[in-house]
Amino acid sequence: MSTPFNTPLEILGGISADVFLRDYWQKKPLLIRQAIPDFVSPLDGNDLAGLSLEEMVESRIVLEHGETPWQLKQGPFDDDTYSTLPERDWTLLVQAVDQFSPEVAEVLEHFTFLPNWRIDDVMISFAVPGGSVGPHYDNYDVFLLQAEGKRSWKIGQMCDNESLILNHPDLRILEEFEQTDEWVLEPGDMLYLPPRLAHWGIAQTDCMTWSVGFRAPSTAEVVTNYADFVARFLPDEQRYGDADMSPVQNPSYIRPEDIKRLRQLISEQLDDDRMLLTWFGQYMTEPRYPDLLVGSDISADDLQDTLNQGAVFTRNPTARLAWSHIQLDTETAVVFFVSGNSRILSEHLVPLLDLLCCADAVYIDNLEPWLNDAEATTLLCELIKHGSLECIDE
Ligand code: SIN
Ligand code: CO
Repeated sequence: MSTPFNTPLEILGGISADVFLRDYWQKKPLLIRQAIPDFVSPLDGNDLAGLSLEEMVESRIVLEHGETPWQLKQGPFDDDTYSTLPERDWTLLVQAVDQFSPEVAEVLEHFTFLPNWRIDDVMISFAVPGGSVGPHYDNYDVFLLQAEGKRSWKIGQMCDNESLILNHPDLRILEEFEQTDEWVLEPGDMLYLPPRLAHWGIAQTDCMTWSVGFRAPSTAEVVTNYADFVARFLPDEQRYGDADMSPVQNPSYIRPEDIKRLRQLISEQLDDDRMLLTWFGQYMTEPRYPDLLVGSDISADDLQDTLNQGAVFTRNPTARLAWSHIQLDTETAVVFFVSGNSRILSEHLVPLLDLLCCADAVYIDNLEPWLNDAEATTLLCELIKHGSLECIDE
């Protein structure tokens, strides 16, 4: 269950979610000392290096003084990579560690005051003294949790697409950094940064930082992707029409009335709440690593048996779930989004959706009320077939 908006939250340094959203979110940075008191990282630098050897995992190393300044090496790496690195000034960064480590994914439980479909991943970096990825800005909100060691964080100016960037083939490092503040973060401390704020983290000791990053599609992505989605439902016969046209005086001239027709054509197609919700829910729940969703066939009877025998199911960390209400022609229904797909369901399933989206696990005790409901059991079987629900125990 979610916390009331005005309750002080430790993760936000004692301010409430509504104050945070009003004063800081997407506006200004917030330093939170001991956001997670006595935080102990469940993995260390060696574990992270181990992950960076895996084919499935996205990793990179930034060396400030490599073969070229700010050299970027892309993973997967091998043991030799690590034996040849210098003692100082490099950082290993591994994306989406929450997808591979349930202990890391647990940190996301602190952020339930924000929509989960806005969360991108938990990126983890390990740096040796002096390690840094240079001054830069990101287009996303991020919470930087210091997990091990000490890192200094400098913050600077608000940037935009005109900000000067070093001429580098892979990295977007700022040419100018106008420092406004600097803090040294220790384990458990956290820094929230809004999008486009220049920042520069430099390891003071061997250190590890967890970045809880948020996703926001660019306007260009929204416009092109939504238009593509809508277009899939439009027959070729449906076209620009001007049955109401008056004779033209200059055949080369595009008149305001021609543009008015065009605007109407576009807005009729694009301004449709049902299409917008369907597209948005599907788009925002697209999984990062769809190959990690491996399902298994199950019938409603098998489901009942396996639950009776003590099976416990959890959400696959790759699966993204969200739901909403949708207006159909004559009634309101519920639409459930699962990893890029959508399904219309009856309203009475809302408590089950809450359970599936929020509970740590589902098993006979919390699923019992739903096992005689055909719509509910069909949904559960589909989630298992699709790999969104995984059996962890029997
Ligand atoms: C890091 O963890 O080293 C870099 C994270 C960031 O600046 O976005
Ligand atoms: Co950054």
